Amino acid sequence: MADDKIFYITTPIYYVNDIPHIGHAYTTIACDVAARYKRMKGYDVHFLTGTDEHGQKIQTAAEGKGITPQQLVDKIHLNFKNLWEVLNISNDDFIRTTEPRHIKVVQAMFKKLIDQGDIYKGTYSGYYCVPCETYVPENAMGPNKTCPDCGRPLTIMEEESYFFKASKYVPELIKFYEEHVKAVMPKIRYNEIMSFLKGGVKDQSVSRTSLKWGIPVPGDEKHVIYVWFDALINYAAAVGYLDDPEQFAHYWPHVRHMVGKDIIRFHCVIWPLMLIALGVNLPVEVVAHGWWTYNGEKMSKTRGNVVDPFKMVKEYGLDPFRYFLLREVPFGNDGDFSELALVGRINSDLANDLGNLLNRTLQMIKSYRGGLVPKCVGAESELSSMAANVLERVDEAMNNFAFDEALKIIWEFISRANKFIDETAPWKLAKDEAQAERLNFVLLNLYEALRFSALLIAPTMPDTAKKIRAQLGLNENEKLSYENFKWGEGAGTTIKKAEVLFPRIDINEWKKLQEEKKMSEELGVRNEELKNEAPAIEHEAEISIDDFKTVEMRVAKIINVEEIPRSKKLYKLEVDLGYEKRTVCSGIKAFFTPEELNGKNIILVTNLKPVKLCGVESNGMILCASVKKDGVSEQLTLLTPEKDIPLGSRVS
Ligand code: MSP
Repeated sequence: MADDKIFYITTPIYYVNDIPHIGHAYTTIACDVAARYKRMKGYDVHFLTGTDEHGQKIQTAAEGKGITPQQLVDKIHLNFKNLWEVLNISNDDFIRTTEPRHIKVVQAMFKKLIDQGDIYKGTYSGYYCVPCETYVPENAMGPNKTCPDCGRPLTIMEEESYFFKASKYVPELIKFYEEHVKAVMPKIRYNEIMSFLKGGVKDQSVSRTSLKWGIPVPGDEKHVIYVWFDALINYAAAVGYLDDPEQFAHYWPHVRHMVGKDIIRFHCVIWPLMLIALGVNLPVEVVAHGWWTYNGEKMSKTRGNVVDPFKMVKEYGLDPFRYFLLREVPFGNDGDFSELALVGRINSDLANDLGNLLNRTLQMIKSYRGGLVPKCVGAESELSSMAANVLERVDEAMNNFAFDEALKIIWEFISRANKFIDETAPWKLAKDEAQAERLNFVLLNLYEALRFSALLIAPTMPDTAKKIRAQLGLNENEKLSYENFKWGEGAGTTIKKAEVLFPRIDINEWKKLQEEKKMSEELGVRNEELKNEAPAIEHEAEISIDDFKTVEMRVAKIINVEEIPRSKKLYKLEVDLGYEKRTVCSGIKAFFTPEELNGKNIILVTNLKPVKLCGVESNGMILCASVKKDGVSEQLTLLTPEKDIPLGSRVS
């Protein structure tokens, strides 16, 4: 295989803590279409995707669930794996940053950079959210330097950190981009990266001591490697940077990264600087796409406006969804997701244009030629010459990752074929025996146009291509290739039964249904809200009766109440257990006056270890029931025996 026929394409690796949405689906579908296209062009393709599994958010989420971070990521990375199956993604590999094959490459690269003096120890200082235990970059801070997640004020924190000497290699990277103007696409992103680089790049902090869930720095385990340094390396680790130099040498010179515009600095600045320092060649291209919004708003979990790809596929079918995402918005631009626009595309491009071409052609071959694709002398027509030109134009578009453009060109061809039916009017030819050869020519050309269209749409709509081929009487499982297509070769095939590919959606019915859905969703949200208005119940782990018996509780009487001058919350209580008197500190000052407490019978935990609170030794704990919000009691009542019973009686 010629060297230039190798294509290694990667998606970003996805944060496992996110719920997959159409933004994630978009990047991966785009890569899938590029990979399928190149395979059909005879390329040796390697298509990688995966998950980014380290970091504070995972650590915190796992703690909240009482499981280890590893257990958590083992479970949730499947959200992405499942989605890729549903979306018919043809990736050759799936890498997880918690896999040993990744970890060892990250550590090896880190060590190499330390050894050659490109990573050094220093002090990192940044805005930190203590409750969320995370640094917040200045451009992500909320108003008045608050945490964008929890809204609490940020504090400046300093910690020891390793730094990568990014600044050292900037001139070399600028030179590379000057010589490779297509290394960052589209042009607008190239310009953005160049001006960023020319503004200078600071050395990058690449380790944290404040975080545990990450890859340890080799030889200094109190540091873990910063998630982005860790994550970027997946692309090299997956093709054998350390273990399989042959595979690495084969694929790496042909690597292309596809990313959203939000992460180009990592991919077009930090990653290339790391690669230069490591002596590894730079990616051929980094292709950045735009962002999807929904009804003009950024999609986010908190806004609750995330478009769920699983749901879209279930409602509208997989191939229409794949087609829509790539056709609707020029690659590189932002786009607003609209279901109405999706329905519009299904009805016009898919049902009307493609579906009708298939249906009309098959019906005519069946009626006029008994289902056998006729032969004719010389099959060349305006359709066949257009086909050759289409292939070239599609190829150019695909090489520029202009998926929308490629589909537009393909649909021009499909429309031309539909027009060919109207121009040649086969129903008239069929009535005239003298036109039999002309009818053969027309039917064969239409059949070939469909056989060719199935080939053209296969990367974007693989299942539809198969269905079309099956109806055309062709082997649907044949490995398709652009190289082997010859116009006219379909003559002599017996077609199968015509079936509707894309049923038309009645817009009025659809709108009615949407209204109903909206209403029932709103009702659902209200029910959720009602549920949420009830206090959240947090349960403790199960215990045995023997565990419970270890807590000694007895009836006691409060016989004296004193304020503790140093404390706003505590009272110093003297309680009588019948067999002895004790001092107990209790944080119930906000709820009772001393008079309300004096003389009350209460339940006391008597075998708690004594503690000193605000200088007073407390020997036990009074039982109360309370309603808490954010950990603070809002209502509180004492537990008292329902009848008189001797002091010191055991509670069980
Ligand atoms: N884990 C990092 C990438 C590390 S790669 C070494 C990350 N993950 S992500 O899950 O947040 O994003 C993955 C991809 O999804 C990015 O390319 C991002 O641009 C894309 N999208 C996320 N939301 C998007 C939209 N709303 N629209 C289009 N794509 C967007 O970043």
